[in-house]
Amino acid sequence: MKHFLSLAHLTPAEMQHILDLSLSIKQEWKAGNAPPYLKNKVLGMIFQKPSLRTRVSFDVAMLQLGGNGLYLSPNEIQLGKRESTADVARVISRYVDVIMARVFAHADVVELAKYATVPVINGLSDYSHPCQGMADFLTILEHKGGFQGKKLTYLGDGNNVATSLLLGAALLGMNFTIAAPRGYEVHPATWALGQQLAAQTGAHLAATYDPLAAAADADVLYTDTWTSMGQEEESEQRRKIFPPYRVDESKLRCAKPDVIVMHCLPAHRGEEITDAVADGPHSALFDQAENRLHAQKGILVWALEAENCK
Ligand code: CP
Ligand code: NVA
Repeated sequence: MKHFLSLAHLTPAEMQHILDLSLSIKQEWKAGNAPPYLKNKVLGMIFQKPSLRTRVSFDVAMLQLGGNGLYLSPNEIQLGKRESTADVARVISRYVDVIMARVFAHADVVELAKYATVPVINGLSDYSHPCQGMADFLTILEHKGGFQGKKLTYLGDGNNVATSLLLGAALLGMNFTIAAPRGYEVHPATWALGQQLAAQTGAHLAATYDPLAAAADADVLYTDTWTSMGQEEESEQRRKIFPPYRVDESKLRCAKPDVIVMHCLPAHRGEEITDAVADGPHSALFDQAENRLHAQKGILVWALEAENCK
């Protein structure tokens, strides 16, 4: 079963394969000759949290691939409350060909995968956001032509998005630097995992508390919200701590002249990113949002590849 729960579960070759697949399906779609790779397949989409990009891009991806997406809101399934996560996985697997789940606790998506008899895709958990990571590396590939010797700098919270970027960069041999405030660093176990993956590809991973030093010579400057979904009670405290990590003109000046700026969105303009940068000439924010659609087509086709060969 090809689950897609964390980029760390992929080999460098699998990561590259999904990227190649995403890019070729994107090109076929733009040229108007994309085959219906997932004809009559159904994706069940379980959401415990709100979403714009994930919900719409998965739904449209299935439609454009010849299949269907089924949106299941937080109120319908009530994962682990109305019935056990294991039973949800067993039942939904009898109806659909692939499951996507956006959950609070990563353990819930792991539990779904344990009991599902179809592939499970992580559509964001408190630990990682691998679909976002795949779209982000597709965007970097298109803008920068490759990963080796390039520097991706992340400023802000060492959260789910930072984790997927760190692991993806390690797999692709891209240099990765994070500047997060003290107490908000990437979890040490994630860091160790990233170092293990980086040893296979030669990627250099670095962490600092100094946002300007991190931004120096960056090819890509990335940020995300200071307060992730589920942490709302901490937002006031975080607004006091994070301002030095805002992506603004001062960080752009330290980066390479052709730096691209990325953000997974939704953006809190004026907090982690200024309007001038988000809407400025370096911004790749909306290419990145579009690439959720194309990257997820790659992930879906990859997850169901064995199915298609039966
Ligand atoms: N970037 C992202 O996952 O956006 P949504 O929360 O809107 O799905
Ligand atoms: N880190 C953010 C990403 C939203 C797409 C969150 O988890 O809320």
